[in-house]
Amino acid sequence: MTTIVVVGGTGQAGRAVVREAGTRGLDVRVVSRRPPESADGAAHHAVDLLGDDEVGVVAALTAAFDGADAVVDASNGMAPGAQAVFTTGARRVAEAAGRARAGRVVVLSIAGVDRSGYAYYQAHAEQERVHAAGPVPATIVRATQFHEFLGIFFGRDSRLGAWSRAGLLPYPRGCRFQTIDLRDVARALVDTAQGDDPLGVAPVPGPSGAPTVTVGGPEVRDARDLAHAWRRAQGSRRLPVGVPLPGPLGEFFRAGRNLVPDAAVGTVTYDEWLAGR
Ligand SMILES: NC(=O)c1ccc[n+]([C@@H]2O[C@H](COP(=O)([O-])OP(=O)(O)OC[C@H]3O[C@@H](n4cnc5c(N)ncnc54)[C@H](OP(=O)(O)O)[C@@H]3O)[C@@H](O)[C@H]2O)c1
Repeated sequence: MTTIVVVGGTGQAGRAVVREAGTRGLDVRVVSRRPPESADGAAHHAVDLLGDDEVGVVAALTAAFDGADAVVDASNGMAPGAQAVFTTGARRVAEAAGRARAGRVVVLSIAGVDRSGYAYYQAHAEQERVHAAGPVPATIVRATQFHEFLGIFFGRDSRLGAWSRAGLLPYPRGCRFQTIDLRDVARALVDTAQGDDPLGVAPVPGPSGAPTVTVGGPEVRDARDLAHAWRRAQGSRRLPVGVPLPGPLGEFFRAGRNLVPDAAVGTVTYDEWLAGR
């Protein structure tokens, strides 16, 4: 039976990968600091990728990867200190995958991360390079923003909560998105873990040098239009209002560097995703 280990298997993408692998009848293990809320039949290995004891962390990862056909790296570190997950953490994952003689490594990354001055994206691009230079053949799967991503603007509990309390629905002005369903992303990752072309698309050498596939959502839409779609689906009376998204991330989105119209392989539109929530 194919065994895959999902590093970050309790996160939003990782959980979708665990579900997809389970549906395919694969043997699944999860690595994260905290145990999953629902095990989904996967064995859990508690490891902090950024633990102080380097030797101990690599040993724990090696044990988790023992006999694995594939290691899927779906870890994440958003906060400035946590971005070392993509550098120190990735180096440890790569080293342990080599020690455990894992068959392949599959890395979940983001479309266009090598084309932004946003520190989080730069750390992600470094993660790609670390795995590309690692001892086990690595394939990078770059996805566009997940449908869930827009919740950081539209959600009531978002950092823009003050806007929503004022009856407004903020959206990033001048930005377009090609959001993708996590189930499509998970299928691409598990396809790759099984040695198949993700969603039938053959990987080609990417900026890191590793074989890379980009998977995008089925349609490119303006953020304003997406805010209206959210409003309709929620039955919300909040008034959509464009707000400037500052810094390099705003620049990245306004330049459309997050868009991959030639890789629109996702099958679930934003409206369909909203309707299914
Ligand atoms: N959001 C998007 O729109 C989008 C689009 C394309 C690609 N991506 C990429 O997809 C990947 C996964 O994102 P996500 O949103 O699913 O992340 P997430 O929900 O934040 O989950 C992160 C996972 O990593 C684990 N983790 C974090 N720090 C760790 C540490 N020090 N040691 C061990 N495990 C650790 C977490 O578990 P514990 O906290 O319990 O350790 C969790 O399982 C990221 O690389 C992200 O950039 C995201």
